[in-house]
Amino acid sequence: MTFDYFTYKGIRFAIDAYSEEGLSYAENELEVLDDDIFNVTYPKSGTNWMIEILSLIKYKGDATLSNSIPIYSRAPWYETNVFRTQQMKDLVPPRMMSSHLPFNMFAKSFFKSQAKIIYTMRNPKDVIASLFHFTKILSIYKEVEQFQEFLEDFLQGNAMYGSWFEHVKGWMQMKDDSRFFFITYEELLQDLRGSVVRICKFLGKELDDAQIDSVVEHSTFKVMKENKMSNWSQMSPEILNQSKGSFLRKGTAGDWKNIFTVAQSEYFDKVYQEKMKELNTSFYWEKL
Ligand code: A3P
Repeated sequence: MTFDYFTYKGIRFAIDAYSEEGLSYAENELEVLDDDIFNVTYPKSGTNWMIEILSLIKYKGDATLSNSIPIYSRAPWYETNVFRTQQMKDLVPPRMMSSHLPFNMFAKSFFKSQAKIIYTMRNPKDVIASLFHFTKILSIYKEVEQFQEFLEDFLQGNAMYGSWFEHVKGWMQMKDDSRFFFITYEELLQDLRGSVVRICKFLGKELDDAQIDSVVEHSTFKVMKENKMSNWSQMSPEILNQSKGSFLRKGTAGDWKNIFTVAQSEYFDKVYQEKMKELNTSFYWEKL
């Protein structure tokens, strides 16, 4: 992956959207409030899907907000420059913020608060497939033609937001903390309603059956793809060129099989086993 980036604490960030000042603010100065909710992911793991779910839960299934405010403004990425300069002041408590930051760079004041984090993970092979397509439409990336090169960079951690492996291992240190809830993209796909119920429980939100049905209905792939406030069509084509491919692209599990060769898959599995063995955790996608 080659793109215009700078390195901050060993991690790559795109120069267009981030700055050292902004990242330092995010880590050291952001004042986390006890009722803040953070939506944390490695890119392409279901970040926007979770924003949709959380927006709908916040308003008990009422989709007015989802139909009127672009998804990226409902739970903005707090480490970006634009968050500090514009978006933060518009957030309505309880605030919802997204982040792709690794654990060791997260807002320090979170750890002294009662705020909550939802961490969504996805089969990294599907993350790679999704990211490979995404680089063709998001301006901050320079397109890499060769998938092998892209794969190699991902495995080496030469990607924006660093290594997927370090991200997951870092955040899983929080797995027993009552303020932390983790879920996988694959669980959302397999049982969206059950997942919504679990998320509500974690957040202490009491929704009745009809309200939960509404959350589920408005957060399906089809509805999000058609909702112009959720499909990123409000974003300038100079930043996101959806004439080359959709942000809401396929929304499935296992699309990696259409892009990895058998040899690349075996190579990936070997590196995965090696890098993840210390975690001693089996993830949902491994059971499918
Ligand atoms: P694909 O490229 O595999 O289709 P992020 O929001 O972290 O950037 O992740 C984007 C991925 O989540 C894309 O995956 C996108 O299609 C998928 N996605 C977004 N909303 C979804 C939904 N409601 N159901 C299933 N997948 C969804």
